[in-house]
Amino acid sequence: MELKKGIWLIYLHLMLFHVNGSALNCTWPNAESLYDALDETIFSKNHLRPVNLLETPTNVSISFILVGILGVNEKAQTFTTFLWIRLEWIIEGLTWDEKECGSEKLSVKRENLWIPDIFILEFMDEDQSPITPYVYIDSRGHVMDEKPLRVVSSCKLGILKFPFDVQNCSLSFGSFIHYDSAIRMVLGLSAERILSQSREVLQTEGEWELLNITAAESLLSLDGGGYHDIVFNILLKRRPVLYVVNLLIPSCFLNTVDLFSFLLPPQSVDRSAFKMTLILGYTVFLLIMNDLLPVTGNTTPAINVFFSISLGMMVGSLLETLFITHIQNSSNPHVPRWVRIVVLQYLAPIVCLTNKQQINRVTVDLNPNPTQLVTTVGMQAPFRIHHLEIKPRPIAVDHQPEKSAHDPVMEELRKLSQDLRTISRLVERHFKEPQTLCDWTFIGIVLDRFLFLNYVLFLFSTLVAISVLWTS
Ligand SMILES: *[C@@H]1O[C@H](CO)[C@@H](O)[C@H](O)[C@H]1NC(C)=O
Ligand SMILES: *[C@@H]1O[C@H](CO)[C@@H](O)[C@H](O)[C@H]1NC(C)=O
Ligand SMILES: *[C@@H]1O[C@H](CO)[C@@H](O)[C@H](O)[C@H]1NC(C)=O
Ligand SMILES: *[C@@H]1O[C@H](CO)[C@@H](O)[C@H](O)[C@H]1NC(C)=O
Repeated sequence: MELKKGIWLIYLHLMLFHVNGSALNCTWPNAESLYDALDETIFSKNHLRPVNLLETPTNVSISFILVGILGVNEKAQTFTTFLWIRLEWIIEGLTWDEKECGSEKLSVKRENLWIPDIFILEFMDEDQSPITPYVYIDSRGHVMDEKPLRVVSSCKLGILKFPFDVQNCSLSFGSFIHYDSAIRMVLGLSAERILSQSREVLQTEGEWELLNITAAESLLSLDGGGYHDIVFNILLKRRPVLYVVNLLIPSCFLNTVDLFSFLLPPQSVDRSAFKMTLILGYTVFLLIMNDLLPVTGNTTPAINVFFSISLGMMVGSLLETLFITHIQNSSNPHVPRWVRIVVLQYLAPIVCLTNKQQINRVTVDLNPNPTQLVTTVGMQAPFRIHHLEIKPRPIAVDHQPEKSAHDPVMEELRKLSQDLRTISRLVERHFKEPQTLCDWTFIGIVLDRFLFLNYVLFLFSTLVAISVLWTS
């Protein structure tokens, strides 16, 4: 029994000696005497890094919990978060006996101890964090310093994919003046633990969703020495619903209406007026949207380009309508040959329009009564008259051998023939003008359909390109 006790005492002594040179001597097992003992040994040396040999680096372990994502400012390229940060290090040589001194831990004023000058490299704004005046010391010399921190950090924000963007912001924790020979940073919790704990407590995310947190050590070498840092990369994903509902869907609606306005006949003024109203509506929409879109100096979000293209296409389709209306009401009856060839021979088959209606027959029947001139014309537009047939009513003529120049029948026939020629000329002149006009109408229809197909194709390819960009 005695022997056992003795061995135990020796073991305890050895342990204490092994861990550090000398334990604190508390006179009473209460906080006051512990404080007095600490005051004598540690607090008086709070200007010195707590190591026995200055060559030994102090390991400062760091971990944090992300409590809130307060915002991302694209213009200033900053990222505001709220962290609970925990630093831990060891005061070499400090131990006390829990029984002898009455407690395992003691919270002491921050000013009483040496505190590592850990800061965040990306810090951009003045520190508006609440002040915590105390740190914990435990009986093995562990110091635990926990504080809330409101961090406004610089972050390179890529907004090309807005509103489907993912941001990768770093927080690098390290000492400001101590080289890595004096302060080494150690990861207190694994990045997965930090992520899962942050997910549990995350209170305000706003429009951002926490995707991942990764941690890596880094050594910043400058002349004179290296600075040891721990870099946390925080991946954030924007929640796009607000922007899809407020920006994308209304824009797509307006584009669809613009597409369907091609159903209106181009020669009427209605269509251009309608398109003009749409453009006005879209401009108002763009004005409202300006407040929602992020702005930075160097990159423009793809969605901005999409809106510009949409507006451009609306303006383009208005111009197209004006052009079609102009050529369909063209005062110049002559259609240039190249226009006829390009439009009627090449474009018309592309847009599946053939002017087979153009071979319309005009039949002029001559009744015995010359005042009744009946013309029947195929009424489909566009029409063109290629053949003008004039069927004179067979006139029964007695074939008599004694024909003379002064035959009254011949006289009558000659008159009739002259009349017919006049009528024919008149009819020709009457149809000449509409023919070219109808050419212009047809050309207008072909061009309208061709440009409409281009419009659809362009809109579709823009949408596909932007979707690919967003999902990549
Ligand atoms: C505590 O007391 C022991 C002897 O009682 C002494 O050897 C030791 O140095 C003292 N420790 C401190 C920190 O004063
Ligand atoms: C500090 O950490 C390093 C490894 O990262 C280790 O080798 C060293 O012993 C630690 N120092 C102290 C005082 O714990
Ligand atoms: C985030 O950025 C850091 C460096 O800036 C890079 O090492 C890391 O791979 C990035 N993470 C992702 C997921 O892109
Ligand atoms: C976080 O990133 C790490 C390293 O890139 C990866 O191994 C891990 O699966 C990611 N976690 C999540 C939840 O995406």
